[in-house]
Amino acid sequence: MCLQQAHGGGCAMSRMTVNDRPVEFDLDPRMPLLYALREAMNLTGTKACGGTGGGGADCSGACMVLVDGVALRSCAITLAEAEGRLITTIEGLSRDRSHPVQQAMVAQGAIQCGYCTPGIVISAAALLLRNSAPTRADIETAIPNICRCGVYPRLIKVVEQAARVAQRQERISAAPAPGISPADAAKAVPALRAAPPE
Ligand code: FES
Ligand code: FES
Repeated sequence: MCLQQAHGGGCAMSRMTVNDRPVEFDLDPRMPLLYALREAMNLTGTKACGGTGGGGADCSGACMVLVDGVALRSCAITLAEAEGRLITTIEGLSRDRSHPVQQAMVAQGAIQCGYCTPGIVISAAALLLRNSAPTRADIETAIPNICRCGVYPRLIKVVEQAARVAQRQERISAAPAPGISPADAAKAVPALRAAPPE
C-alpha cells in the first residue's frame, strides 16, 4: 500500500525521463510533478513558491521545469500528464553550471534571493532552445517569472549574453563548480526505482 492509498487515494506507475534518467513514480498520478521531483527524487532545486500556498500555478514560476524542451510550471502538471515526457530540472540543465544562461546569470550578477533563480534560468533556457537570437520583446514575453527584488533589467542582459555565448560569439569565465553533485543531491529516493530495461 502506498501513502496515498493509506489516505484513501490511489497509486499507479507514472513513467517518464527525468534529467536523462528513466524513472517510475509509484505515486498518485494526480500528484503535481513538482512534489514528485522535490519529495520523491530530492531534486529540490525546483522550488515551490508561496502564492496561494505553493503549487497553485499562479505564483512566481519558481517551479519551472523543461517538459519536452518547453518551460512549464511543474505545480500545474500532474504525474499523469507528465507520463512519457522528457523532464529537465535545474539540476539536469548542466552537470557543472556550464549552460550559457547559468554562466551569464553569474557574469551579470543576476542572482538575487536565489529562490526564484532556478525557475528563471529554466524559462531563459527554454527561450534559447526555440530562439537563438531573441529580441528584448521576446525575452520580456518568454520569462513570466515574478521577481520581487526587481532583477528584470539584468535578466534582459543575461539572456542577450547567453544567446551570444551559445552562438560562440562570446566567451565568459566559468562559474564556480557546485558544492554538491546532482547525484548526491538525489541519493534519497524512497518512491523511486529504476525503470526495468526495455
Ligand atoms: S509553485 Fe508557484 S507557480 Fe508553481
Ligand atoms: S530573485 Fe527572488 S525575488 Fe528576485
